Amino acid sequence: MKILVTGGLGFIGSHTVVELQNEGFEVVIIDDLSNSTIDVLDGIIAITNKKPEFHQIDLKDKSKVSNFFKSNKIDGVIHFAASKAVGESVNEPLKYYENNITTLIYLLQEMQKNKMNNLIFSSSCTVYGQADELPITEKAPIKKAESPYGNTKQMGEEIIEDTTKVSKLNAIALRYFNPIGGHDSVLIGELPIGVPQNLIPYVTQTAAGIRECLSVFGDDYDTPDGTAVRDYIHVVDLAKAHIIAMKRLLSKNNKSQMEFFNIGTGKGSSVLDVIKAFEEANNQKLNYKIEPRRVGDITVAYADTTLANNELGWQSELTLQDSLRSAWLWQQKQ
Ligand code: WQD
Repeated sequence: MKILVTGGLGFIGSHTVVELQNEGFEVVIIDDLSNSTIDVLDGIIAITNKKPEFHQIDLKDKSKVSNFFKSNKIDGVIHFAASKAVGESVNEPLKYYENNITTLIYLLQEMQKNKMNNLIFSSSCTVYGQADELPITEKAPIKKAESPYGNTKQMGEEIIEDTTKVSKLNAIALRYFNPIGGHDSVLIGELPIGVPQNLIPYVTQTAAGIRECLSVFGDDYDTPDGTAVRDYIHVVDLAKAHIIAMKRLLSKNNKSQMEFFNIGTGKGSSVLDVIKAFEEANNQKLNYKIEPRRVGDITVAYADTTLANNELGWQSELTLQDSLRSAWLWQQKQ
């Protein structure tokens, strides 16, 4: 079985390629290298001893996408390729709508033309905004997106769902909570470019002395310790969920043409919880200070993973400590 992984040299994409190859799938990667480096390919090969096919293609180039599908018979597509920085999306909305939506439309058009009907879509818990009820189930209402990035995920799900209604396309949207950590080989991990936007790379860069001090964005939230709560899931657990979801489609076990699953640990951790867990897991003191809230942040989000547990037979296995240890090992390697 040949699986196309778009954005396959990215953080979650590369970990998913490793798991696909471990499961015996043939993998072809499309990546435009706008937010990753070709060295990630060496990391994947070093881990699995298998060289995935790689095409440096910008999915905004419709003719290149069309030529690719003409000359590659694909059994399934896992679509990661997208811009994903929330803050950046607020400042550059058109870049996000062009890159995240146009590329999805071209991908779907080419899949249709070539009768390729299995799609796993990289979605996000961002689609829920600040949910009213916790833990968050897939039935939670989709609220108006707080950022163009979040809106592209909501729109992406709707575009795919509308397409399944008029075609043979079978799709699963995986709504990720907060992916962190890295492969236990320490050969691939998260490679933020510039100043990290996300918490964990900022934590590890502060511990490594690259950053002076971690800013904790707000301690006046309505949470046990006042800092915001998230569901931090190990990227390898997240990668494995993609394999299970792809197998579900390939074996036609999906119960409808469009399915949605929350992929998280089901456990909420505050920023201060993460700092404490990092210090304990890695025997490192972390220099931080409380700063004002970050605009656009929600107070609390953690997943109800019952559906993924029961329907996919998937369950997260790695702990927050496992994730923070692997993130620190990866940082020390940089
Ligand atoms: C986590 C918490 C911050 C940095 C983002 C995307 C979401 C998804 C996951 C893609 C928040 C706090 C952060 C820092 C801090 N990505 N924080 N100091 O915003 O929950 O979600 O990543 O799908 O779409 O929005 O993740 O890591 O930025 O923040 O205090 O230097 O850590 O305020 O409470 P977020 P994050």
